[in-house]
Amino acid sequence: MCAYGDVWHPMSVHDASGSVVGFLMWGIDDADGSCWLGGILVDAGQQRRGLGRAAVVQALSLLRTETGHTSFALSYRPDNVVARQLYASLGFVETGEEEDGELVARLSLG
Ligand SMILES: CC(C)(COP(=O)(O)OP(=O)(O)OC[C@H]1O[C@@H](n2cnc3c(N)ncnc32)[C@H](O)[C@@H]1OP(=O)(O)O)[C@@H](O)C(=O)NCCC(=O)NCCS
Repeated sequence: MCAYGDVWHPMSVHDASGSVVGFLMWGIDDADGSCWLGGILVDAGQQRRGLGRAAVVQALSLLRTETGHTSFALSYRPDNVVARQLYASLGFVETGEEEDGELVARLSLG
């Protein structure tokens, strides 16, 4: 999606030693101007070390600073309890919208 379209931009996630441990991508929805995060993942062997949480926090901070966007959105499968709780704990609020069977949650950093 990042290589062949012009919507999604890739980001790699590195641990403190610099090793690549994960991925996410971001893109702007022209319809409402919100900045979407997608494809968020941490290597299976590196999960539960705080990297996923840190990656989303860092991405929000970086994107806010570098793009000026303050309205963020993402989606996840309803049965993805880990993602659902992680994003909720970061302030993402489910809106009742659905995208391809996934629940949409939004965060406004004001
Ligand atoms: C979602 C994902 C990115 C989280 O990455 P991570 O590095 O494991 O996350 P963290 O270590 O920062 O943990 C975040 C929270 O989730 C909890 N958590 C992580 N994995 C868990 C598991 N398997 N079971 C229960 N809780 C879990 C942690 O305890 C933590 O909660 P806390 O901050 O209240 O202690 C990772 O699980 C993943 O890559 N999953 C597969 C892809 C996916 O589902 N992506 C999301 C799609 S939108």
